[in-house]
Amino acid sequence: MGASRATIVGWGARLPARVVTNDDLAACLDTSDDWISSRTGIRERRIATDGETTATLAVGAAEAALACAGIAPEHVDLVLVATSTPDHLAFPSTASLVQAALGARNAAAMDVGAACTGFVYALATADSFIRSGNARTVLVIGSETMSRILNWEDRSTCVLFGDGAGAVVMTESSDEHGVLAVTLGADGTGGDMLIVPAGGSRLPVSRETLEKRQNYVHMDGRNVFRFSVKILPEMIRNVLTSAGLDLEDVALIVPHQANSRIVATAAKALDVPVEKFFLNMHAYGNTSAASIPIALVEAVDAGLIQPGDVVLLAGFGGGLTWGAAAVRWCSRPTPSSASHDVSRRQPAL
Ligand code: ACO
Repeated sequence: MGASRATIVGWGARLPARVVTNDDLAACLDTSDDWISSRTGIRERRIATDGETTATLAVGAAEAALACAGIAPEHVDLVLVATSTPDHLAFPSTASLVQAALGARNAAAMDVGAACTGFVYALATADSFIRSGNARTVLVIGSETMSRILNWEDRSTCVLFGDGAGAVVMTESSDEHGVLAVTLGADGTGGDMLIVPAGGSRLPVSRETLEKRQNYVHMDGRNVFRFSVKILPEMIRNVLTSAGLDLEDVALIVPHQANSRIVATAAKALDVPVEKFFLNMHAYGNTSAASIPIALVEAVDAGLIQPGDVVLLAGFGGGLTWGAAAVRWCSRPTPSSASHDVSRRQPAL
């Protein structure tokens, strides 16, 4: 066993039904649709309702991805949930909750914490497990309820984020499709740029931390912007070099959906039209680890990614962390996964 490439054979997303527009926010905050949309590209976002959590959204996305792949939950070997907003701070992991809810009784489960880069880190982990022969089928999920860790009185952060989940199913590839190259990085010296100061072991929740609102997202927006516009083009070049490809070989880049100005600046640096990047932050805001899989699902469903196309996924965010993957797209279940077929529903391409 081992050395098989890992490929994506199913995908799905789950978004909360509740839509909150910029105008809705402007009704209770000193902000405006014009300020938010001109600086970020965001027009509205989805916000989880009371019964929805990171795990329930993850389960919705995972069920859709498994149905798309035609793979039954009991054939999953590993459930990975990339999230910064787990249902529980310590344990059980959100991945364990998802594993139970899916009935993935033969799967191991763990969370992956790399903020907005979490999905790419999880995809790289799945790729390694599959290549090494330690897993055959891995469910890779990015899921967030960012609304639960935002200070809704802080206009500089709360307008940026949203809730949602996206998932892919990965299995061994029997051909040239699948993950071609991955590059991951981190610079922990920039950890303070994006931080939830309290609630962990360094500063446990107390009356004081609650009064100071230290259990919410704090962000140095300008420096995060500087970091993002530098790292996005850099990691795209790096992953292309690792894959032995040029930008012309790439059909679509699916970046982390933080901010359209970050993407426009990166496109300029790479000398490619911004249309090479798939953007949907106008509809969902920044859903952190969920943003790349949600965008990937939308791009596939819109027919923008065809079998054989090379797609780049590029994440960046808190940690600081970053990561990119080059994937040759495959829409067909592999012969081994087809034997796990539960629904035969084909992806909407
Ligand atoms: N509505 C109206 N005014 C606002 C708002 C708001 N929602 N938020 C801040 N302002 C005000 C500020 O108070 C400030 O006013 P002042 O000049 O009177 O002090 C003014 O707007 C400018 O504030 P800046 O923070 O300098 O605004 P900037 O132009 O830098 O834009 C932004 C802020 C959009 C957050 C930008 O820094 C950015 O895009 N940063 C990247 C951060 C990001 O995308 N983070 C997402 C999470 S991390 C990630 O996913 C990688």
